[in-house]
Amino acid sequence: MQKLVIRGKHPIHGTLRVSGSKNTALPLMSAALLADGTSTLLNVPDLRDVNTFAHVLRISGAKVNFDAQQNKMTIDAGDISYPEAPYDLVKKMRASFYMLGALLGRCGKARVSLPGGCAWGPRPVDLHLQGMEALGAEIDLDEGYVVATAKGGRLEGGVFRMEPSSVGATINFLLAAVLARGNSRLENAAREPDVVAFGEVLQKMGAKIDGLGTTTVEIEGVDRLYPVEFSNTPDRIELGTFMIAAAIAGTPGELIHLSNANPSHLGDAFIDAFAQTGTPFYMGPDYVDVITPESIHPVSIETAPYPGFPTDLQAQWTVLLTQSTGTAEIVDTIYSDRFAHIPELNRMGVRASVDGNTVTVEGGQTIKGAEVMSTDLRGSVSLVLAGMVAEGETHVTRIYHLDRGYENLEGKLADAGLPIRREEYDEFAEPELQTA
Ligand code: EPZ
Repeated sequence: MQKLVIRGKHPIHGTLRVSGSKNTALPLMSAALLADGTSTLLNVPDLRDVNTFAHVLRISGAKVNFDAQQNKMTIDAGDISYPEAPYDLVKKMRASFYMLGALLGRCGKARVSLPGGCAWGPRPVDLHLQGMEALGAEIDLDEGYVVATAKGGRLEGGVFRMEPSSVGATINFLLAAVLARGNSRLENAAREPDVVAFGEVLQKMGAKIDGLGTTTVEIEGVDRLYPVEFSNTPDRIELGTFMIAAAIAGTPGELIHLSNANPSHLGDAFIDAFAQTGTPFYMGPDYVDVITPESIHPVSIETAPYPGFPTDLQAQWTVLLTQSTGTAEIVDTIYSDRFAHIPELNRMGVRASVDGNTVTVEGGQTIKGAEVMSTDLRGSVSLVLAGMVAEGETHVTRIYHLDRGYENLEGKLADAGLPIRREEYDEFAEPELQTA
């Protein structure tokens, strides 16, 4: 098992480079399955989730080569001979459920494990299944697997209105609808930049889609899609994470440069909230410059689907609030229990309390280093942020959670001047008994 060891109160400086987006790379990889040829994806981050999904694609028969050093992936989907996605992989990475739409669209049938729960509770897939049925699929459940079949071997197309709006269900619907016999319409579709970039790849492959980025998406089914070369978008959640790091862990008055970014993907709500903290920042076409402020105003936020405040940044925002000059609240309207990181932060002296789907955070805090445990991906990075501003040393354990979604985080932060290192440790070592 591995942990990160961080010595706090060592300001970061210089440049932090943003990697390719995890939540765009995964749907792009599933889109490649729809064409019987070799697609090339660039700016693909070297993450556990990406490597897990590459394995899922290989099981279906695709040949996947990933040059992690070059962040370049080729996917030869010429022979999808095994339209299945097994439990032991889907349980590790929920987005493997995109195989349902991809295999139904390409092969007219699919057997995909239900994802099961995740660190912060149930994450249903009912909207995914309803969307497939709206397109004409027959859905059965068999020993924890979804068995989906298109009558006559090809989906008909159809109309589906989802409630609530779901990123994953939108992606699965598009994967299945673009090769359907007829036309389709998706209402209350997700508008995240991840979805728009994914839809643009499908269009480049020959799909006929209108309304990307709006809540109503129209699809005209086509008979065939063609392989594509596409450069993945930068990760908007990593960008937001780095903007928060620059605001709380730099030297007041100094500029920190965030490169290889796309600030337009942050959404107005996050940009407005960040501006209200009083942190000076400038958004360029492919970078953000942040000047660490002398003090940070407390800003309450409420998460919402894009362009609302991303739920994937609420844990990080908690740490920013601990360094602000007052008390503020975080409300997560998307997930009601995504707060497993709060008790870990409490161990560092953070005064934050959870009531239902609301966290109240006091500012002006001196945080003390401690050994803390990662519970999920974004919770894990909030512990790293806390370690950066804590007095003394912080050990963040179980960082396999972090490795799912942040590429070489400790390398990036070390290059920016933070004393941080990765260490092996024995999770089950018994503490030494003190002999009398
Ligand atoms: C995507 O998950 C992201 N993952 C998540 O990021 C992100 O938190 C989430 O969108 C919300 O923005 C990827 O893109 C791989 P949803 P997804 O379906 O698609 C409910 C990270 O940290 N819902 O948009 O699973 C659901 O319970 C990850 O990178 C249903 O009720 O999220 C939630 O309340 C974590 N039925 C809401 O919709 C369904 O069938 C939004 O979930 C599906 C979802």
